[in-house]
Amino acid sequence: MDSSTPPTGHGPDLPLRDVPEPRTTTPDPGGPGTTAPGAAAGRRRDPGARAAPAIRLRDAELAFGDRVLWSGLDLDVAPGEYLAVLGSNGTGKTSFLKVLLGLLPLTSGTVSVDGLRPRAAARHVGYVPQQRGFPARTPLRAKDLVAQGVDGDRWGIRLHPGRVRRRVAELLERVGASDYANAPVGLLSGGEQQRLRVAQALAADPSVMLCDEALLSLDLHHQQVVSELVHEQRVRHGSAVVFVTHDVNPIIDHVDRILYLANGSFRIGTPDEVLRSDVLSELYGTRIEVLRSNGRILVAGRPDSTHHTDSPEELIP
Ligand SMILES: Nc1ncnc2c1ncn2[C@@H]1O[C@H](COP(=O)(O)OP(=O)(O)O)[C@@H](O)[C@H]1O
Ligand SMILES: [Mg+2]
Repeated sequence: MDSSTPPTGHGPDLPLRDVPEPRTTTPDPGGPGTTAPGAAAGRRRDPGARAAPAIRLRDAELAFGDRVLWSGLDLDVAPGEYLAVLGSNGTGKTSFLKVLLGLLPLTSGTVSVDGLRPRAAARHVGYVPQQRGFPARTPLRAKDLVAQGVDGDRWGIRLHPGRVRRRVAELLERVGASDYANAPVGLLSGGEQQRLRVAQALAADPSVMLCDEALLSLDLHHQQVVSELVHEQRVRHGSAVVFVTHDVNPIIDHVDRILYLANGSFRIGTPDEVLRSDVLSELYGTRIEVLRSNGRILVAGRPDSTHHTDSPEELIP
């Protein structure tokens, strides 16, 4: 393996990675040539010192029975770093988030979030779950949904109702949802509902944002709105972001590193290190072509594309 090859999930002697500092500049889709401060500008508990990882996994394995989803996973995600998790259906992306949420135990190895066990860190984590539309008759208004993220239940203390109201209004404003604050959530469009989920996840000013297919079934405009909101949280507040997606294109400008899951194995590295024909061919054990076309990244030849992306022009992955 040459030195440019990203770490793999195979090999019992995988050394602990000395994780590189994330990129400190990312292209800003709002204007070529401008830079957005990344991890370096983010909130840190101890400014000046090298930040403790927001997420740390060591020799982590997750298996269901005989089926190993991933093993030998060593990963540090720094405050303000943006990690995209890619992989086909069933490769363990959602399960990875559930481990970070403390909802699933590792089969072996260790995991910490903000230096704590995941369950103890839950109040530092904002979570945008895989999108499901709310039933039309859901008896919640938009602002009630956001208030669930703000309300004191999460901390075991109740906030003053006036403070909750002010915070909810501020969050609705931030995600551009003030106009429909009083609308029943079940009557809102998918894009409007998703903005509310992001507002709910931002409510605690999380140090870690976990997003599961947060752009699924959104039109291009709303994909951009939602991905900018997540990006802004990490730039302004130094939150680490773990973004699970089947299509990296809408977020590629924000991504520092990729965790690519396939075949019970994985690769970790920058987009340029991982999204390469040779790297993915080795990971999948068959010939894969990574193509760049009109600024979009396309992958062709994945053997496990049995669903709607099963075309030679399919998007990653
Ligand atoms: N609690 C569970 N018990 C047994 N198998 C599970 C459980 N959760 C997930 N799986 C299986 O693990 C695999 C990975 O699931 P998931 O993490 O949801 O994949 P992805 O999000 O990448 O599509 C799937 O085959 C799924 O059926
Ligand atoms: Mg999933």
